[in-house]
Amino acid sequence: MTLTYSSYLSLPKLLELQRPRSQPPEHDEMLFIVIHQVFELWFKLLLHETDKVGRDFTGNDLYGAIATWKRMRTILKTLVGQLDILETMTPMSFASFRDRLDTASGFQSFQFREVEFALGYKRAQVTGAIPDHEGQRLAAERRLREPSVVDHFYTFLAQRGLHAPVALRTKDVTLPTQASEDLQDELFRAYRDQPELVILFELMTDFDEGLQEWRYRHIKLVERTIGAKKGTGGSPGVEFLKQSLWKPLFPDLWAIRHRM
Ligand code: HEM
Repeated sequence: MTLTYSSYLSLPKLLELQRPRSQPPEHDEMLFIVIHQVFELWFKLLLHETDKVGRDFTGNDLYGAIATWKRMRTILKTLVGQLDILETMTPMSFASFRDRLDTASGFQSFQFREVEFALGYKRAQVTGAIPDHEGQRLAAERRLREPSVVDHFYTFLAQRGLHAPVALRTKDVTLPTQASEDLQDELFRAYRDQPELVILFELMTDFDEGLQEWRYRHIKLVERTIGAKKGTGGSPGVEFLKQSLWKPLFPDLWAIRHRM
């Protein structure tokens, strides 16, 4: 059979996958499903790109890393903007089908955890919320045990003549990224002496800001849609989400800015 647009993209399969549960149908449930599926596709692509940027770093490929961070930043900005569409749904409309979600929640998104872990925001305890089937929890646990993009970043910096402290380069990879004053001194020097690295550092800062933007916008979406109600995933809701707000991925890139 000749390849067609539809067969290449597996469209019949893809368009089969939106299955609202409300009976009688609630108009906005389709929007809710489509938005979440689209986000999961973006998460999939982000993981594809974090794998690439890890290879760029270990391979000392500065231009590859710059191109990849630029793409990742653009995906993130696009993703955040898409929350506007979901905010056209009123709290009453969401309440009309919310109980069909049962305990389903973004809290169980194994790909989102993979994205966080790949970027060095590691929290072993949150993997417990991921259902233990179809290898989903295992996928997140595997990422937890793998070096993050930040671990690869240290390797890259060493290849560029920056002294990345041994304590950072040999740290337990299942732990979250730690700020380091020694590394900050090195990064500050690079800001002055290696302009090609500055382009990379600024893109990484853009991305970091983008992820915090996503967290903020998601919290506001949750607040305006369910207020102080508990999450379907069983967390206290907004208060739980606020724990990760303002936590940078790359604390050292933020810590030096007042010196410039
Ligand atoms: C009406 C819209 C939404 C509401 C009311 C909502 C609500 C919540 C709540 C209350 C939580 C905390 C965990 C829990 O107890 O359930 C949560 C977590 C989460 N949600 Fe949403 N959400 C919405 C839309 C979205 C969208 C569009 C996505 C995109 C995939 C998403 C992804 C996530 C993720 C990844 C988490 C875990 C966040 C973390 O642990 O930091 N949510 N959501």
